[in-house]
Amino acid sequence: MTDRLTIRRPDDWHVHLRDGAMLKAVAGATARQFGRAIVMPNLTPPVTDVAAAEAYRARILEAVGPDSGFVPLMTCYLTDHSDPAEIRRGYETGVFAACKLYPAHATTNSAHGVTNVLALGPVLETMQRIGMPLLIHGEVTDPAIDIFDREAVFLERVLTPLIRAYPALKIVMEHITTAEAAAFVAQADHPIAATITPQHLIINRNAIFEGGLRPHAYCLPVAKREAHRLAVRKAAVSGSPRFFLGTDSAPHVVGAKESGCGCAGIYNAPFALEAYLQVFDEEGALDRFEGFAAEHGARFYGLPLNEGSVTLIRTPVEVPAMTGAGETAVVPFLAGRTLAWRLEA
Ligand code: NCD
Ligand code: ZN
Repeated sequence: MTDRLTIRRPDDWHVHLRDGAMLKAVAGATARQFGRAIVMPNLTPPVTDVAAAEAYRARILEAVGPDSGFVPLMTCYLTDHSDPAEIRRGYETGVFAACKLYPAHATTNSAHGVTNVLALGPVLETMQRIGMPLLIHGEVTDPAIDIFDREAVFLERVLTPLIRAYPALKIVMEHITTAEAAAFVAQADHPIAATITPQHLIINRNAIFEGGLRPHAYCLPVAKREAHRLAVRKAAVSGSPRFFLGTDSAPHVVGAKESGCGCAGIYNAPFALEAYLQVFDEEGALDRFEGFAAEHGARFYGLPLNEGSVTLIRTPVEVPAMTGAGETAVVPFLAGRTLAWRLEA
């Protein structure tokens, strides 16, 4: 039995680091594990231009401290009014690593999101030409569509026409949750990849209703039925370079989760690597973990692999019931549970 695993330093290709006190409270958990992270732009107001992204990057670097070596990769939040010249300038000057597409009203802070993706012609043409990845929250927002079907319907209604119209546009389907999305990404004749979160590998939708309503198991896209979890697990451990690590760690203060209208988002950053590794271990795929965590994403983005390494040790670790306090008190994913691996300090 393998009891120690050393891999190249991994990256998190999808994280919400927030701002202000919450940023200071959570950024260290990500920087401790990952060399780089794709930082989501859904602040209030959202990060829609180069100046805002540079200022946010500076706040992140201040929060993680001068010696962390952590590199935040910034994203541009697309709106119906995004300016292709600004996006191109941001990408070519190394400020923006990608653009993020939130369908309007799909999730937390997406009110300024895009109402019709295919109407973004000049933006998408520019991104396709310069090789800039489009990161997609892939859910339709049509209230007539059942919430558990919104990702699968997105593939048909939006993604299929999008890739037909922009055959060379690099796309990442973020946080996939369904067998349909896993199959679509694995098989598409298109430069497309997908990130996978720890929660969608570990819980199914029963977790949201286990003995009562469980707000800390609620995120978007919402967890699906067991068959989907199994399909997403299979994709993650398959070794396909189209699937890579993206935590979607999304902290909300405990009161905003435990509420009459609880926010979507799961805070998994403190034990992200441990949670993923447990899945790979259970699947007998420890040899595929490094590819998923530290290689596939960088290659898809066209970035160099990280130098350095991290080591995980097989030893039980208990996830605390709560992290932070006051305005930064957050219940982490798997709170109170014991995990089998621990990241070496
Ligand atoms: C995210 C958040 O809270 O910002 N929430 C979530 O449930 N994943 C937004 C998002 O990525 O959808
Ligand atoms: Zn997210």
